[in-house]
Amino acid sequence: MNVSDSERVATLLEADGFELTSDELLADVVILNTCSVREKAEHKLFTRIGQLKKNYADEKKVGVMGCVAQLEGETLFDQQRGIDFVIGTQAVGRVSEAIDKVFAKDENFIDLGVREDEYDWSTTPRRRHNEFVAFLPIIEGCNKFCTYCIVPFARGREKSLSAEEIIKQVEKLRSEGVREIHLIGQNVNSYRPQSVAGLENFAGATAFSRLLRAVAATGFERIKFATSFPRDFHPDIVRALDEYENLCNWVHLPVQSGSDKILRAMRRGHTIENYKKRIDAIRNSPRKIALSTDIIVGFPTETDEDFQATLDLFEYCEFDSSYIFKYSPRPGTPAAALEDDVSEAVKKSRFFELEKVMRFQQQKAFAKNVGGVLSVLVEKISDKQSGQLSGHTTCQKVVNFKGGDWMLGKIVRVKITESKRNTLFGEIL
Ligand code: 5AD
Ligand code: SF4
Repeated sequence: MNVSDSERVATLLEADGFELTSDELLADVVILNTCSVREKAEHKLFTRIGQLKKNYADEKKVGVMGCVAQLEGETLFDQQRGIDFVIGTQAVGRVSEAIDKVFAKDENFIDLGVREDEYDWSTTPRRRHNEFVAFLPIIEGCNKFCTYCIVPFARGREKSLSAEEIIKQVEKLRSEGVREIHLIGQNVNSYRPQSVAGLENFAGATAFSRLLRAVAATGFERIKFATSFPRDFHPDIVRALDEYENLCNWVHLPVQSGSDKILRAMRRGHTIENYKKRIDAIRNSPRKIALSTDIIVGFPTETDEDFQATLDLFEYCEFDSSYIFKYSPRPGTPAAALEDDVSEAVKKSRFFELEKVMRFQQQKAFAKNVGGVLSVLVEKISDKQSGQLSGHTTCQKVVNFKGGDWMLGKIVRVKITESKRNTLFGEIL
């Protein structure tokens, strides 16, 4: 979501006549996009501002956008000398005005207002992280309020984009040469537009599974989506994947813990039994669907037994990849009021133990592909000298192989010859 926000801000600034540079030495304005999901990210911001001000004194205007901006608001000006403007998560459409005001008046400026009704969700090809892959938000905000999570406070309540607008953007992206699209949101499964306009011709048990079918029916080559929420992950989503091959065979379904007691304390709204049912539905699909998850270790009151339940769940699910985090209390969330009673040493040891299991499972899932042929979107040149190209499979695995730059943007068949940790290697057929 953050990368997608940066892309849209860059698009907007360029459209408004600003010249963009990634060389901070040349810049008159530096904008820092921020994340506050974990404490580390916040620390990074303050270190970065300190560096900027040390190097450039008052030569440059510095703006902060993203979750930290929204949550800290005005107090950022006091906390850290050197910030000139603050743009909230929904105010990114007005970033040019903020810059103009800061230069015109030479005083601090803040906008934490809500998103404009006519907000333009598009990005220009040059400002995307990759020319051939685009992120398209379909829902913003989150209503779940998992007890550890700052996102609902930073990004506000859920708001779905209209299906008509999404389809329009999908068509536009296709005409610009994009081959893979990621429909994104904190919880895409709770997609709920105000009207069914654009979905009339598509059946489905939920608005999201109807939307998947509607987007797939445009014929767009590769469609991925993230993030899914276990309670709202209806089996009809798997049926949609079975029906349309251009809906990619990858599901990111964060579970957060393998213990029902901890899931209750996190207020996740699902049990391990429910989660396993979701996994079974995915595994029972005739397609081979790759699975990934997020896990928090060391949530308050997590015992060795609870952690063992997480290890057991991993055994059951055999994830293709997983992202493991040590619990970090976020001020203002319900869990922050609980005693952070799992010591740092225990959090670390659980992290490393689970990481070992994760690496083992990942290696196994990757190694299974050796000898097979996978479809790969050629996204970039990973090493010019040796002519190495790199791209993703439909199941979200990175593949490296030899080839020429004329192949960029093509979807090719690669015979997989080797697997190393989290990368596959192969030869173009
Ligand atoms: N501490 C640790 N990890 C967190 N996440 C969200 N909030 C916290 C927190 N307070 C993790 C969750 C989520 C991922 C994006 O970040 O696993 O799925
Ligand atoms: Fe945070 Fe839970 Fe919403 Fe995910 S579903 S963004 S973890 S509150």
